[in-house]
Amino acid sequence: MEHWSATTIKAFRKTLLAWYDREGRDLPWRRDQDPYHVWVSEVMLQQTQVKTVIPYYLNFMAIFPTVEDLAAADQETLLKAWQGLGYYSRARNLQRAAQQVVHDYHGKWPETAAGLADLTGIGPYTSCAIASIAFGEVVPAVDGNAFRVFSRLLMIEDDIAKPQTRQLFEQIIQPIVDPDRPGAFNQAIMDLGSSYMTSKNPDTAHSPVKAFDASFKANRVLDFPVKTKAPRPKLMPYYAVIVQSPTGYLLTQRTTQEMLAGYWTFPLFLQADLQDEAATEPADLATDIATLEQRWATEYQVPVKLSPVGGQPVSHTYTHQRWQVKLLMATLTTTPKLTFYPGKWIPAEQIAALPLPKVQEKIMARYEKQGFPDAFGRN
Ligand code: ADE
Repeated sequence: MEHWSATTIKAFRKTLLAWYDREGRDLPWRRDQDPYHVWVSEVMLQQTQVKTVIPYYLNFMAIFPTVEDLAAADQETLLKAWQGLGYYSRARNLQRAAQQVVHDYHGKWPETAAGLADLTGIGPYTSCAIASIAFGEVVPAVDGNAFRVFSRLLMIEDDIAKPQTRQLFEQIIQPIVDPDRPGAFNQAIMDLGSSYMTSKNPDTAHSPVKAFDASFKANRVLDFPVKTKAPRPKLMPYYAVIVQSPTGYLLTQRTTQEMLAGYWTFPLFLQADLQDEAATEPADLATDIATLEQRWATEYQVPVKLSPVGGQPVSHTYTHQRWQVKLLMATLTTTPKLTFYPGKWIPAEQIAALPLPKVQEKIMARYEKQGFPDAFGRN
């Protein structure tokens, strides 16, 4: 890898920040240095693109203008504000951290990366981003952009998929961060990483820092960053059971032990959980339907006659799981009491007001497309 002299470092900072002052993006969370604004934006931006985050951020600040408002928010309002952003545990962690700031720290934010890292959901990247942007601490914020930008500039060959590589990058970048404007420095790297130095189709030839780019001079830009492939997400076949009674549809709220905690879905069953433990071959659809009907009759005391909705299964991918959901439906002429099933009958037109995960929205859209147009009164 390349090593920069003190002179090169000074020249780099100057070039980078001059470019940032001219062409840095005007983003809603950059209008001030309020740690609440910086923190919420950084958590939203952890796994989500800037253009997706902007409307969510503005809506979130309209609903929860202060950290006290967020700490006191009710769960449904919070999950609804996060609906569609994904990685839903971020929303719950955000509220827990807000409660820590308000109650444990009496509304006064920790002002260093080390102090911020004690808050729920704030990892090494986010703590350094907030500390540098809101409080001027001279620390590098190493996210995917920083990995990409510095691995190219300096031709760092270490595998960024390995957890220990972060520390190495932090050590390399630390002396390069501008001591007078650490927040601007870190955000300039982010802007570089999403303009001239993107993963695919970078435009290094026009980059403001191309003179400092060793990989560009070596004609090896796309060799960096070095990153071994993550394992493929595990295929998870599910059934969604859509039961309609004269009162409405049966929905259930996911528990705190499950992913998508607090969000509402139709009853979902993992195909593997329907199978006899001794079975050596996967059951066919008819067998699974019979098993489900049996379970609904005896365990839940809600007798249903299930039929396939048809169409391709609904597919939705999370970081480690690829869900493939087959839709089954039943229409009841009376509304059974839900003594043994943890769900609620929701009138069709009230479903959209609940916090719904994306996979539930896809299931509803598929159901409507398969012969039940506007079944949920949303259109
Ligand atoms: N990605 C992560 N944090 C960001 C920020 N503050 N501005 C732009 N993109 C980002």
